[in-house]
Amino acid sequence: MPGSGDTHTRLDAVSRRILTQTCMNDLRAPLGEAHALPNAAYTDPEFLELENARLFAPGWVLAGFGGCIPDAGDGQPVEIAGVPLILVRGRDGQVRGFQNVCPHRGSRLLSEPCAGKSLLTCPYHSWAFDTEGMLRNRPHFFGPEQHQAIKDDSGPNLIPVRTQMWHDLIFVNMSGDAPALDDFLAPVTDRMDGYDMTALRYAGSTSFEVEANWKFAVENYIEPYHVFSLHPRLLSYAPMSVRQPSKIDGHCFYNEYTVPTMEEGRGEGLPHWPGMPEAWQRRGMWFHLFPTLSVEVYADQFTVFHIIPTGPDTTREELHFYLIGDAATSEHYANARQQVFDTWHDLNLEDMDVLKRLQAGRRAPGYNGGSFSPFWDEAPVAFSRLVGEALVVDD
Ligand code: FES
Ligand SMILES: [Fe+2]
Repeated sequence: MPGSGDTHTRLDAVSRRILTQTCMNDLRAPLGEAHALPNAAYTDPEFLELENARLFAPGWVLAGFGGCIPDAGDGQPVEIAGVPLILVRGRDGQVRGFQNVCPHRGSRLLSEPCAGKSLLTCPYHSWAFDTEGMLRNRPHFFGPEQHQAIKDDSGPNLIPVRTQMWHDLIFVNMSGDAPALDDFLAPVTDRMDGYDMTALRYAGSTSFEVEANWKFAVENYIEPYHVFSLHPRLLSYAPMSVRQPSKIDGHCFYNEYTVPTMEEGRGEGLPHWPGMPEAWQRRGMWFHLFPTLSVEVYADQFTVFHIIPTGPDTTREELHFYLIGDAATSEHYANARQQVFDTWHDLNLEDMDVLKRLQAGRRAPGYNGGSFSPFWDEAPVAFSRLVGEALVVDD
């Protein structure tokens, strides 16, 4: 979604101001000499604007979950790349995305989720759109009691946004020209070959309002170095000795380990993926698809981390849990299911303080982007590099 010429020029200037040649040289240096992104990349509101326009808008971004809008006429407002959107399930069962703006005078159309609507009606002058985004009624449009009912699709209609699903996950591509969603997901789907995703059912969610830039949430997620220091329970069943630095495959960061014994909350007490080989029972895998989507796979679950930038120094982190078959909803598994939710909730709470500290630390002007462990830190530096390369302006 290109901005105006002025915006383009202004964002070029932001990029040049923050991603200087020195900064890019530091980012591109070998790990032992590299520095990651500078402080302003985590604190400057204009840098988030640059990210919205040139990182989030051109790619695929997770926008929502089919289970939140299960029936025809269900809709949900969301915001992606700083743009208000609506996700709507149509009469044909398809989920579609639109910009959340009425084409008449520009009112926001939907403020709250809605259910079972045959028409989406703008609260300002009651122009009404069907679930495919087509304008259908304009009351009093030609004068008092001179209503207009519209049968064709001549509009003005809602502005569609490219939207596609992978199982229950709804993705949008604001620019409309990203490579195929399958290509974006391939590093995960290739490695999940053999896991029957159709067995998954939505079981619940939890979320955190994080007082830190979204990149800190990701960098923390993709480095297992801090586990020994912050996560005693995690360490007790997957010690540092079974952990490896994260691997990198293009825009995908991933890791895999096999735990010595299974524990409640991960792999124990709930049904496992159907047909799963014995060797996978104690396996944990996680993936981060640049920039903001992470998923974790254990014998009994598929957990989605949805990282949503809400400001230069605030982030919403949502966790959505999918379990196998009736484990997601049946009373029989209520305790084991709660154990999954509690495990994830407690684990993430353990990270909140350091995320705040990372944000606060970046107000110290002497920090140069860091120096790194040659064993553990390739992933966070590579992540910084992906951000820098996506946003740098080549002269
Ligand atoms: S702004 Fe929506 S109907 Fe007028
Ligand atoms: Fe952590």
